[in-house]
Amino acid sequence: MTAQILDGNALGQKLRAGFKQRAEELALQGMRPGLAVILVGEDPASQVYVRNKVNACAQAGFHSEKHAYPADIEPSAVFDKIAELNADPKIHGILVQLPLPRNFDTEALLDAIAPEKDVDGFRAENVGALVQGQPCFIPCTPYGAMKFFEEAGISLKGKEAVVVGRSNIVGKPMAMLLMHAGATVTVCHSQTRDLKAHCLRADILVAAIGRPKMITGDMIKPGAVVIDVGINRLPDGKLCGDVDFESAKEVASFITPVPGGVGPMTITMLLANTLESAERSANT
Ligand code: GUN
Repeated sequence: MTAQILDGNALGQKLRAGFKQRAEELALQGMRPGLAVILVGEDPASQVYVRNKVNACAQAGFHSEKHAYPADIEPSAVFDKIAELNADPKIHGILVQLPLPRNFDTEALLDAIAPEKDVDGFRAENVGALVQGQPCFIPCTPYGAMKFFEEAGISLKGKEAVVVGRSNIVGKPMAMLLMHAGATVTVCHSQTRDLKAHCLRADILVAAIGRPKMITGDMIKPGAVVIDVGINRLPDGKLCGDVDFESAKEVASFITPVPGGVGPMTITMLLANTLESAERSANT
């Protein structure tokens, strides 16, 4: 069997066309969805992600602004900028690109974002709402993964789902969303004893570990749906996921490629959350 590819560029483009139209409707009311992105430090991967987010805003007709700081900036300057953006009516979403330099208190900085502008969904109260199944901003990467299931008509009810990785950004919210959708969820991590045995039980396998090609075809149940969240750079400069795509695609029924899978969907769902925030603010 060769797996069907879940194409994040194609799905992203389709959804973004709808967002552009909704942004045009807001423009009739004199409003443009606005996203502010804060970048601290010179991490090359973060710089690429931020550039892609800003470009995606422009293509969808959104306003965006990037606020970049050197790694040795006083954290108080970034807190001040967030306070300013919280009060700025042009801005409907504020995103602090992670990771932050070590001297930053990440949780405190995220909690400084106004709840109605927390389009990444990383504030503690947003996480609480997600756990309780209350309305909230869904963190963009797991939100994008859920859109793949929806688009491909993959039901999650009663399925065995295994999430490899327990980060706040992906693993934990992903597990919560899969659970709410009716899957039985196992979360594996660096201390899991027999990762392969867990993976082999998975009807739905989400890899979010940050280790190149760690999940190989022999760890995948025939017919499983594989979502690869990893974006790793190999010594030759090429990008690869946490899944060994070549061996995995021979076993899985559906698989996301890297690049072109989860990455573009993360940005698409950031636009979705920013647009939703702008529409809410237009209706209040
Ligand atoms: N760093 C890696 N992924 C993300 C993300 O989705 N949002 C933010 N803010 N930072 C990240």
